[in-house]
Amino acid sequence: MDKTFRIAPSILSANFAKLGQEIEDVIKSGTDIVHFDVMDNHYVPNLTIGPLVCDAIRDISKNVGALIDVHLMVKPVDRIIPDFAKAGANIITFHPEASEHIDRSLSLVREQGCKSGLVFNPATPLSYLDYVMDKVDMILLMSVNPGFGGQKFIPSTLDKLKQARARIDAYYEKTGRQIWLEVDGGVNAQNIADIAKAGADTFVAGSAVFGAGKDTDPNRYNTVVKSLRDALATV
Ligand code: DX5
Ligand code: ZN
Repeated sequence: MDKTFRIAPSILSANFAKLGQEIEDVIKSGTDIVHFDVMDNHYVPNLTIGPLVCDAIRDISKNVGALIDVHLMVKPVDRIIPDFAKAGANIITFHPEASEHIDRSLSLVREQGCKSGLVFNPATPLSYLDYVMDKVDMILLMSVNPGFGGQKFIPSTLDKLKQARARIDAYYEKTGRQIWLEVDGGVNAQNIADIAKAGADTFVAGSAVFGAGKDTDPNRYNTVVKSLRDALATV
């Protein structure tokens, strides 16, 4: 099994007036994935960005070798999935509570040529996975309630990560297919090692990364990304 750790900066905390430059700089600092938070002021109490912005950043993300990981916090999901696929999304995840037909929505994501994933809020049970493991490429555990960057990591996520890891490992034993385990919310250099030990392999970090960008130096994210990588190296 591949043991790579991936860091996915959430552009929610980036400087939107310079989004392309932010993405280029943060990926060149040693991160892997552009985490793209889509909020609709309905499923979550905030409003962010849509397919138009995804399309605008697709070339720059591709040029620096980063995947675009679209985290849909919208309800319903099916209408908008093809739009994000066309706009260059590589991975599309959604919340089971936001879909009337989870199996169908997962299939739709794959039919559109993207990797598919389910997102679990802090109180959402992992049993939603029971009959759809074959249709999932990524499991995303929220370690905050969705809607805003800059919140505090909820510690019970560590136990839940262990349970998700056990499901993924058992599935890998049976099928040889690897499912990524991503965590989202309140991740920083102080807690990332414990989060990795609990089983996560993909780490969203918004405020912890972009909060370090105080000037226009293209290397401004190097220090914070190195601190995340150094912590991961202890695992
Ligand atoms: C919250 C979003 C997260 C958020 C993470 O609803 O899904 O991706 O931007 O931000 P931090 O790392 O600041 O908690
Ligand atoms: Zn997110």
